[in-house]
Amino acid sequence: MLGALASELMRTIFARATPPRLGSISETSEYDHAVPTATNGVSLRADPPIDQRLEDQFTALWARVVDAGGAVNFRPPANEAEIRPVVRARLARVDEGSDHLVAATVDGQLVGTTSLVGSHAPVVAHRASVVGVMVDPAHQRMGLGTALMERTHDLACRLGYSVLTLTCRSGLGLETFYGSLGYETYGVVPGGLLVTDDPLDHHEVCMAHLLERRP
Ligand SMILES: CC(C)(COP(=O)(O)OP(=O)(O)OC[C@H]1O[C@@H](n2cnc3c(N)ncnc32)[C@H](O)[C@@H]1OP(=O)(O)O)[C@@H](O)C(=O)NCCC(=O)NCCS
Repeated sequence: MLGALASELMRTIFARATPPRLGSISETSEYDHAVPTATNGVSLRADPPIDQRLEDQFTALWARVVDAGGAVNFRPPANEAEIRPVVRARLARVDEGSDHLVAATVDGQLVGTTSLVGSHAPVVAHRASVVGVMVDPAHQRMGLGTALMERTHDLACRLGYSVLTLTCRSGLGLETFYGSLGYETYGVVPGGLLVTDDPLDHHEVCMAHLLERRP
């Protein structure tokens, strides 16, 4: 499996006639006008306007996900004072156009997010990391995470990325979720995540996905 992934990666990289074009303002703006779309009461929007309300809602969502045991960087109990600066920095990068955010809302309330973080060195300019994948505990297992990831893949394609990577916590079945979206495991960092004080408790699983090229 890993051999096949590596060969496919090499084929993708060498097949490119020109380097990918990364998220210019106009591409992003054009894409924004194509969304939001509403499915079953949920609106998905790429790169929504950044304001204080979004920062507050993102911080509160992140805290709820942490307290429900979600694998999103912090240990429970969630401390909003720790989470808010991380949210603020992420939103600032979205605002300046260097990172991208896909936001899911229900009745104006933020219920899910994903973020895309690009690479800047020329040899990895076709790659982006998917981070901050989270769905409000009250809305999980309803297809929202899948919808968010599919929209993220669409956004990544439009921005010119062809390889997406992410890492996730072992032991929660997250590999199943990402596997259903086309990600393959290419490595594990043993004891890579200090979710408890025992460094052997949780490993970090590294996954990659080759996006289909779109015209
Ligand atoms: C992981 C997460 C984003 C998935 O979102 P979701 O809206 O619940 O996912 P979906 O409803 O689209 O799930 C689709 C399928 O993926 C699989 N899946 C989703 N979450 C899973 C989990 N935690 N464990 C195992 N399989 C899972 C299931 O097969 C599911 O289908 P099913 O409900 O019919 O069994 C969400 O559970 C979440 O926010 N978890 C907490 C935060 C977190 O751990 N994020 C991952 C950071 S790397």
